[in-house]
Amino acid sequence: MLRLNETYLGARVTSDEVARASATHADVLARCQAGEERYAGSLGWLHVDDWSSDERIAQIESLAACLRAQADTFVLIGVGGSNNAARATLAALGARDGSLDGTHRVVYAGNTLSAFELRRVLEDLEGHEVVINCVAKNFETLEPGSSFRLLRQWLVERHGEKNASSRIVCCGTPGSHLERLCHDHGYTFTTFPDPVGGRYTALTEVHLLPLAFAGADVRALVAGARAEEALLRDGTKDPLANDAWRYALIRRLAWDSGLRVELLSFFEPRFRWLSKWYEQLFGESEGKDGRGLFPASAEYSEELHSLGQYVQDGTPQVMETFLDVLEPSAGDSLVLGGSDIDDRFGYLDGVDFWDVNKASFTATRAAHASALPCPTLELDRLDAEHLGRLFYFLMFSCYLSASLLGVNPFDQPGVESYKQLMFRTLGRR
Ligand code: PA5
Repeated sequence: MLRLNETYLGARVTSDEVARASATHADVLARCQAGEERYAGSLGWLHVDDWSSDERIAQIESLAACLRAQADTFVLIGVGGSNNAARATLAALGARDGSLDGTHRVVYAGNTLSAFELRRVLEDLEGHEVVINCVAKNFETLEPGSSFRLLRQWLVERHGEKNASSRIVCCGTPGSHLERLCHDHGYTFTTFPDPVGGRYTALTEVHLLPLAFAGADVRALVAGARAEEALLRDGTKDPLANDAWRYALIRRLAWDSGLRVELLSFFEPRFRWLSKWYEQLFGESEGKDGRGLFPASAEYSEELHSLGQYVQDGTPQVMETFLDVLEPSAGDSLVLGGSDIDDRFGYLDGVDFWDVNKASFTATRAAHASALPCPTLELDRLDAEHLGRLFYFLMFSCYLSASLLGVNPFDQPGVESYKQLMFRTLGRR
């Protein structure tokens, strides 16, 4: 299960205020649960099964099996919503160098314009059997477009035009230029759902294909999301029993009380890429019209020795949402032995790092809660099912939260300004 623990909410945003705000804004929850007509073109993710039915998952698994048979390396060419969720999932599931099973790995491109980084990617592909997957909703974004150019040429030089085509998969919207390109050159084409914006695609084939290639349990991921959808969209339940709704209300009340930053803090480095996904989701969805909490993240315990000081005592503008996993999974235990020297850490004899890390977490939360609201998102376990729950929970919360704030959760008009200036500099017509 996934739940919101409000024990450490503190005095700035109280549970009573949450209950009052819930009654005032009850219509927002009902509208979002049903899915609003005005956002019909962006709400394809709301009902998980629409784009991740069992039948579609079977097709993805079968394509992934074909790709696994001819390659050990899958280059995921995509930026933002076209790459973050797969990367976040693999990292959270404990992938080492992009691989869960030690035989097949995912490598990332299309998310940078740095020649140095792209050279690294090319060097890293030498000696491997490679397939590339260009994920681009509108196929205009510079990062994936330029990386696809580079990597397609790399494949053609190695395998020749004809043999390279079986190693190229593109994910785009039906009717797009990318689809035409695939048709003309014999590349495999997969569907980027038109009514789903990049940052809401976590549970669609955009991400399920790379995950299936890497051997992740995509069925469990989708099952977790479906279970979460059933809980959060149940309009017969008391709104206050809806954790996504309470979380969205807390965010809104925090904003109203003058806070301007939400820090997603965690004590498990495996959440590093998930926090990037969260930053993109909330940043692009809410940061508009001069509004929105700035989404940032803190990887503790390391950043207790940098950001922690500011969070505790700095400008009072931060609310801190902790992400916590309750039960250890395989690999989460490491017991410290006794020492034959007097290092003054004898109190750690026989203690598990899992418990040391938890002590650091509970102490941090108790300390920070004296100054700022510290809600906690608790996952029973860190596995594919719970990650599916978390993706759905945060996407639905973001829809609610942006609606409470009065901004459109599904556009990103600000991103256009830099793009137009950059395209002009590069001479694009
Ligand atoms: O969430 C969004 O819509 C964006 O962040 C996109 O995912 C990102 O810009 C990549 O877009 P595209 O797939 O069109 O290259």
